Amino acid sequence: MTIWKYSEVGHNQDAKKEVKPFNNDDVFETPKPERLIERVLTLGSNPGDLVLDSFLGSGTTAAVAQKMGRRYIGIELGNHAYTHCYPRLKMVTDGTDQGGISKAQNWKGGSGFKFYELAPSLLKEDQFGNLVINKEYNADMLAAAMAKQEGYTYQPDTALYWKQGQSSEHDYIYTTTQFLTVESLDAISETMQEGESLLICCTAFQKECTTHHPNITVKKIPQMLLGRCEFNKDNYNLNIIDMPKMDDEEDPDEDYLPEPAPQEAEENNKNNQPTLFD
Ligand SMILES: C[S@@+](CC[C@H](N)C(=O)[O-])C[C@H]1O[C@@H](n2cnc3c(N)ncnc32)[C@H](O)[C@@H]1O
Repeated sequence: MTIWKYSEVGHNQDAKKEVKPFNNDDVFETPKPERLIERVLTLGSNPGDLVLDSFLGSGTTAAVAQKMGRRYIGIELGNHAYTHCYPRLKMVTDGTDQGGISKAQNWKGGSGFKFYELAPSLLKEDQFGNLVINKEYNADMLAAAMAKQEGYTYQPDTALYWKQGQSSEHDYIYTTTQFLTVESLDAISETMQEGESLLICCTAFQKECTTHHPNITVKKIPQMLLGRCEFNKDNYNLNIIDMPKMDDEEDPDEDYLPEPAPQEAEENNKNNQPTLFD
């Protein structure tokens, strides 16, 4: 309030009023006023820039970013992702939200947003501490997840069951939880065209399968995933070794004001409070 006047950037009471149209029954406890975020985005971004708010709350940052022509990613783990963020952004893009900064930004609605749910963890430990595929995954979810992990576009073919995804024109992926035998591999191979290759992700296979057809690679889930997972790590701090320096950034040393000498500090200390030098 003392630095950015609340008369200019609003306060929590304004923010609560802004949130009411999206959910009047359960008004969010700590929303931020749109004008405050508008000022932050004005200072820190340009139209078209990507804004990230990993604690989206009632969705203020996303709503403001949308109205100010920024792209955005919002992350929220609470249920208010459904009860607040989604309806708010829906009203913003529909143009039915005329609160907050709508007038100032001449916001009439438009554009859109994508709403994703994070999938459950693919791997889980069983009672013996072994990593197994999470039972929450059904066959389609698993096939989609494996395609994503391996860099394939998940796009199941209606005619051939093993064509679940593609990485290039002739390279396919197939995920199955069935035990893979040489016979099942032969059956697939017979339906493959010349020049086509296939990656099969399965939970168990006959050992001859790995060398049976040169254009078919067989990998075992979850082993193929383990190399990409990190376990028992609770610190994901960015390891920035050398901060980039902007061209027009002045050398901080030039602005450095030396601390007052001890006597000077004493004179400045009108209230006779203990100082650093006492
Ligand atoms: C103080 S609120 C943010 C308020 C928001 N700026 C607004 O204007 O409505 C913080 C939010 O972060 C969410 N949160 C906390 N930890 C999180 C996490 N690890 N991932 C995603 N959201 C998280 C909480 O559920 C809460 O809604």
